[in-house]
Amino acid sequence: MNDAENGSHGYTPMNYDEDSAADEAYQTCVTYIVEHAPIGRDDTVVDVGTGTGIVALELASKCERVLGRDIDDEWLRYARQKAEERGVENVSFDYGSFRDPNVDEAVDVVVASYALYMAYDEGGEEELRAAIEGISSLNPRHLVVADKMFFGPPESRGEYETLPQMGTVANLLADAGYTLTDVEIVSGSVGVLVATRTSEWPVLLSRGTK
Ligand SMILES: C[S@@+](CC[C@H](N)C(=O)[O-])C[C@H]1O[C@@H](n2cnc3c(N)ncnc32)[C@H](O)[C@@H]1O
Repeated sequence: MNDAENGSHGYTPMNYDEDSAADEAYQTCVTYIVEHAPIGRDDTVVDVGTGTGIVALELASKCERVLGRDIDDEWLRYARQKAEERGVENVSFDYGSFRDPNVDEAVDVVVASYALYMAYDEGGEEELRAAIEGISSLNPRHLVVADKMFFGPPESRGEYETLPQMGTVANLLADAGYTLTDVEIVSGSVGVLVATRTSEWPVLLSRGTK
């Protein structure tokens, strides 16, 4: 396990949920995923870097199953406890990393919410590439990346923390066989990318989908 997979955060799971509830950009991302992500009723969705399971639990009513994966056992326990308290039965939480999500079944959509930036922070573009290769190895129809990344030109970054450019994320998704099909810019440093498996394009075009 490398440092990107040690999973230490500066939060308790409870504090994380409180801060997230008050974070407008984060809430806009979650709402966007729930309302616009291309997730169908019969789909199996993997929420990688699930943390306390906020997104996984929100998506449970939209699809057949959600598999939450994370490298932090304490946060996984907390997410399981929330699912139990809420009586949500089609969500499960288990160990799994970006590089090796630990999923053996067919997956329709992978969601990564406020998670992949940690790979970039740890190991720059190469670690982010490995992370995107890892999650795309599940061969989902769509990858949904809601994250902190720069949407403006490099000179607009100021002294802000290390984040990838949106174009870098898009290029790595393309290298993994995915084409951007939707982009929602929430702020200059937060947004949602929806990427579709490139092999889906003939199907989409034959259905007349843009
Ligand atoms: C900021 S939290 C976001 C949690 C959640 N997705 C959300 O939207 O609230 C990032 C999560 O990514 C997890 N993480 C960090 N590195 C990881 C890795 N290499 N593989 C899987 N999860 C990782 C952390 O343990 C943490 O729970």
